[in-house]
Amino acid sequence: MALWILFHVVLLFILSPSNANHEGDALYALRRAVNDPENVLQSWDPTLVDPCTWFHVTCDGDNRVTRLDLGNAKLSGRLVPELQKLERLQYLELYMNNFGGHIPAELGGLKNLLSLDLFNNNLTGPIPSSLSKLSSIRFMRLNGNRLTGKIPRELTKLANLKILDVSNNDLCGTIPTSGSFSKFTEESFMNNSRLEGPELMGFVRYDSVRGCN
Ligand SMILES: *[C@@H]1O[C@H](CO)[C@@H](O)[C@H](O)[C@H]1NC(C)=O
Ligand SMILES: *[C@@H]1O[C@H](CO)[C@@H](O)[C@H](O)[C@H]1NC(C)=O
Repeated sequence: MALWILFHVVLLFILSPSNANHEGDALYALRRAVNDPENVLQSWDPTLVDPCTWFHVTCDGDNRVTRLDLGNAKLSGRLVPELQKLERLQYLELYMNNFGGHIPAELGGLKNLLSLDLFNNNLTGPIPSSLSKLSSIRFMRLNGNRLTGKIPRELTKLANLKILDVSNNDLCGTIPTSGSFSKFTEESFMNNSRLEGPELMGFVRYDSVRGCN
């Protein structure tokens, strides 16, 4: 009987509302997934009510996270899918670190994101086509990684995209030229030795390019 009660007390503690901040949990999942030799994430204390007092985190008036500023912070490790829980995130600034692994497809769920800066890391794998769901995005800089595969054609429908940089990767296939891509120059795509580019409308079919995966 005593054990039974203890079990419920523990359960209540685990489920208590004061312990449940989804955005803090999401950021703490990132902290756990990275190596942080300079302790820039030291202030990230998951027992606080929300993450708004943590360094490198900015919140709006409702205590919801709008910015994550961790550029040039000597971080390595992986990006975590939990970041998609930061529903009001506008700026995801993780450039000039040494993050490895893939770009989580879940980042496409960040509907309010204006700026995705992952440049100069060690990211591998494809550019997820789910990033085409980032309907607010204006700046997307993925340059200076080791990304492979095609540039997802779906990205051309990102109407607000002003700056795209996928240079200095290992992408292949052709460079889309329609939609928002009509305003990007060669510079956005340079130094991808297997990238054939720009698509000749009606001549080269996007899906016909061989040896690209
Ligand atoms: C990049 O990641 C690879 C593993 O995918 C690793 O072998 C390499 O050391 C990393 N580069 C740097 C600069 O840490
Ligand atoms: C081309 O991109 C790769 C991968 O990011 C990089 O290591 C290399 O230095 C770049 N080369 C030039 C000439 O910029």
